[in-house]
Amino acid sequence: MALSETEILGWLRENDPDRVDALYAEADRVRREHVGDAVHLRGLIEMSNICARLCGYCGIRADNRGLERYRMTREEILECVALAQRFGYGTVVMQSGEDYGIETEWLAEIIRTIKRETPLAVTLSLGERSGEDLSAWRSAGADRYLLRFETSDVELYHLIHPPAPGKANQDRFHILRRLRELGYETGSGVMIGIPGQSYSSLAHDIALFAQMDLDMIGVGPYISHPDTPLGAGVMERRISREDQVPNSETMTYRVIALARLLCPEANIPSTTALSTLNIESGRELGLQRGANVIMPNLTPPKYRRLYQIYPAKSCIRETPEEFHAALMARIRKLGRKIGGGPGGRIRKA
Ligand code: 5AD
Repeated sequence: MALSETEILGWLRENDPDRVDALYAEADRVRREHVGDAVHLRGLIEMSNICARLCGYCGIRADNRGLERYRMTREEILECVALAQRFGYGTVVMQSGEDYGIETEWLAEIIRTIKRETPLAVTLSLGERSGEDLSAWRSAGADRYLLRFETSDVELYHLIHPPAPGKANQDRFHILRRLRELGYETGSGVMIGIPGQSYSSLAHDIALFAQMDLDMIGVGPYISHPDTPLGAGVMERRISREDQVPNSETMTYRVIALARLLCPEANIPSTTALSTLNIESGRELGLQRGANVIMPNLTPPKYRRLYQIYPAKSCIRETPEEFHAALMARIRKLGRKIGGGPGGRIRKA
């Protein structure tokens, strides 16, 4: 649907609950029409919490010294991959901090092994890696890459993303174009309700999803982490109360619904950050308001508490098995199906 930025802004600021419900219903209809009733499952492997960066909001930022660091071994990663296969997931997502100890060839070999021995799609989410790394991993068989642009407000972006020590700041839009050229399915997205994020900048972010023709769109509420400059209130850019986007559940559903209307074919997850705001039914409500993907966490429980990019992240204690069993029942209860196969983007001619 062609929604102008002004119309998007109108939806973000809409106060009439009946109209907001109509927006959700339309997003659900468009989701069904374009990507169907399948819910695709992507097994998330949080490979490493080591990070070279200093993002103002993120709990695994380099200078959070209170955190024990880990990097999973090849064998541990392949055990998670086996679990994904056993559960019937079509994709594994390998995510980490920007960890340069994850070396080009080490990871390329793991990707080749997964692609040779399983039918799984491989998604990477490893931060702003070099063009050479991205190219090597694509050649090894990686299918998709996720890199959120977080906010299109340049001033706010630079405030909360200091460059890597000794390096100039990279342009994530440039990296996203590069990923596309390399043949990756490309995903991006934003946080909702970052301190200093205005309604008009969020409307612009959403308009960009369509302009960029993203294959995957991941959004979630900003969640304050006390061990970060943004969470501790020492990095703030204050804007007026009327302009500030709330980091609320309802704002997250609106952004998911608008993303679906603007990008009908995209794969859109109902994210963990959303379920952290509403453990009971956040995931389900996301799936009923435009989303069609869930990313169950396959990280071994001993590492999970160390991957707290924000606090009180849901399912810190659950084992992959427990979550899996409950999830199947929850999806069926919604009247939806479990997606088979890799579940990549399907382009209508
Ligand atoms: N609150 C919400 N989301 C966060 N992320 C990182 N830190 C936080 C936080 N405090 C999100 C970023 C990143 C993704 C992996 O996690 O959007 O791209």
